[in-house]
Amino acid sequence: MNYSLYHFTDSESSIEAVAIRWHEALITRDPAIPFTVALSGGRTPKALYKAFAAKAQKGQFDNVHFFWGDERVVPPENDESNYKLAVAPLFDSLEIPKTQIHRLLTERDEEFAVQQAESEICRFAKLDPSGQPVLDLVFLGMGEDGHVASLFPGDQEAIESKAIYRPVTCPKPPPRRITLGYLSLYAAREVWVLVNGEGKKQALADSLSLAGTTPFARVLQNRKNTEIFTDFLLE
Ligand code: 6PG
Repeated sequence: MNYSLYHFTDSESSIEAVAIRWHEALITRDPAIPFTVALSGGRTPKALYKAFAAKAQKGQFDNVHFFWGDERVVPPENDESNYKLAVAPLFDSLEIPKTQIHRLLTERDEEFAVQQAESEICRFAKLDPSGQPVLDLVFLGMGEDGHVASLFPGDQEAIESKAIYRPVTCPKPPPRRITLGYLSLYAAREVWVLVNGEGKKQALADSLSLAGTTPFARVLQNRKNTEIFTDFLLE
C-alpha cells in the first residue's frame, strides 16, 4: 500500500492531528540544513495554520523555507491569494523572516514568476537525479474532482511536463494559476494531503483505487508513501 490513511470524526480533529505531526517534524528536523515546505490553497489550510501556530513558537524556524504547491495569478494582497491565506495565521503570528518566505510573484508576468520560483526552490531544496527539487514536506488539498495543487483531470500537458512549476488555466476559479508539476510531487520526501468534506468521498475512493486516473491517483501511484488525513469514513 503506498499511502497511509487516517480517518477522523470531524475536520477539527483531522486538522489538529496534522498540526501535531507538522510541529513534530519542525522540532525533530536538522536545523543545520534547509527544511523546505510547500503550502497549499483553498479553504482547508487556514484552520491548519491556526492550529499549527498554536503549537509552534517564534524562533523555532531557523532554516525553514516556505514555498507553494500552487498559487492563483492574483495580487498577493488579494483574498484569493494562497500566499495571503498564510500571512496572518502563520507568517505574522510566528514572525517568520521574509527571507524564508518564497511566494510566487504573481503580480509579475507568469514566465518571470515561474523562473523566479524555480530558482528560489532550487536554492534551498536538494535536487533528485532528474533535476526535480526534493521538498521536505508538501501539503496538498484535494478537490471534489480529485485535483491536487492546480493539477486537474484532463490536463494532458501537465502529465507530460517535466517543469518544476508551470502556468495553467484551470476550471476552479480563479482560472489562471501557477502549479508545481507532477514530477515535483513525486520527488518530495513527504506529501501530506488533507481531504475534508463528505463531498470528496467519491473522488478519494477513486484516487485510492490502483486503477485510479485522477490527478491525486497519479501522485499516489508514483510515490512510495503519501499521508492522507480525512474527516469521513470511506465505506
Ligand atoms: C487551490 C488549492 C487546491 C485545493 C483543493 C481543495 O489553490 O485551490 O491548492 O488544490 O487544495 O481545491 O480545496 P479546499 O481545501 O477548499 O477543499
